Amino acid sequence: MAVIYVVSMEYAIEIEGLSKTYAAKGKAGEKIALSGVDLKIPKGSMFALLGPNGAGKSTLINIMAGLVNKTAGKVRVWDCDLDSKPIDARYHIGVVEQEVTFNPFFTPFQVLDIQAGLYGVPKKERRTMELLELVGLADKAHAWSRQLSGGMKRRLMVAKAMVHNPEIIVLDEPTAGVDIELRTQLWENVQMLNKQGATILLTTHYLEEAEKLCDEIAIINDGKIVAHDKKDALLSQIDAKEIHFKLDRELSELPVSLKDFNANLVNPARIGFFYSPKETNPTQFIEAMKKTGIGITDITTKESDLEDVFLQITKKSA
Ligand SMILES: Nc1ncnc2c1ncn2[C@@H]1O[C@H](COP(=O)(O)OP(=O)(O)O)[C@@H](O)[C@H]1O
Ligand SMILES: [Mg+2]
Repeated sequence: MAVIYVVSMEYAIEIEGLSKTYAAKGKAGEKIALSGVDLKIPKGSMFALLGPNGAGKSTLINIMAGLVNKTAGKVRVWDCDLDSKPIDARYHIGVVEQEVTFNPFFTPFQVLDIQAGLYGVPKKERRTMELLELVGLADKAHAWSRQLSGGMKRRLMVAKAMVHNPEIIVLDEPTAGVDIELRTQLWENVQMLNKQGATILLTTHYLEEAEKLCDEIAIINDGKIVAHDKKDALLSQIDAKEIHFKLDRELSELPVSLKDFNANLVNPARIGFFYSPKETNPTQFIEAMKKTGIGITDITTKESDLEDVFLQITKKSA
């Protein structure tokens, strides 16, 4: 009789109650890096795991990739449980490490070909040139890798993570310390892969990166997931807005008549007014501003962004 395994086809990665404690080493005591993490990453999503340094991001993805052993919990990568099918799981995931990890004396073609060999991809099925084209390095196929620019090296790392055709591509802090032009290039590359169907998971401590690129975001702080939602839903949690008025003169303090409002002097020639759009609107404040006789030369508004969400959530969970 055939055994039918029921596998959820909705999620690329499912994590339940995942914990990791690094053992004590020398003078350093044991370190709890993850505690009770539950996380489901939908197939085809562009997912950001966002959190400050030391939050546990790398630990989490290194566990998924089979590079770090978990202390407790369940992890499923595609349809493979990490405990029962650790090797199979590796074939579904490609990790782009933060550091450049290829031999600089090989050509990009050789780098990819050797990596494909490590994964046991038969020669006939290797897509070396196709991948080089995908990351815009076809013309460098036979150049020495050490002569590539920083940006090209990063793109070669992306291609290297793809030689075994994984459904899930994980990028650990892909743009930390990378210049703006390269960052944009890398983002375009990753977005294209996502459009072609890959599930993308990126870890980052750049709010901007998560906000610009990803459709779903989980925030990790101190080894715990403290928020997880679609980006828009996460942003709408914050009901706060800020208006700045540029003044036609410099003040040493906020006019007395404005002191009852939630306002302050941002700098001598700029007043900031903060309010909750769900509860109020800025009419009264603007009226009060007019009465002071101080001229307004410009107005700017600031919508809440991921940074506000992040600060609010990490404050709450601290
Ligand atoms: N090999 C290790 N041994 C001991 N502690 C570690 C090790 N790797 C990471 N840690 C600690 O675990 C915590 C989480 O680290 P990490 O997963 O690298 O965070 P992130 O990637 O979010 O910056 C940190 O406090 C870090 O110092
Ligand atoms: Mg890290």
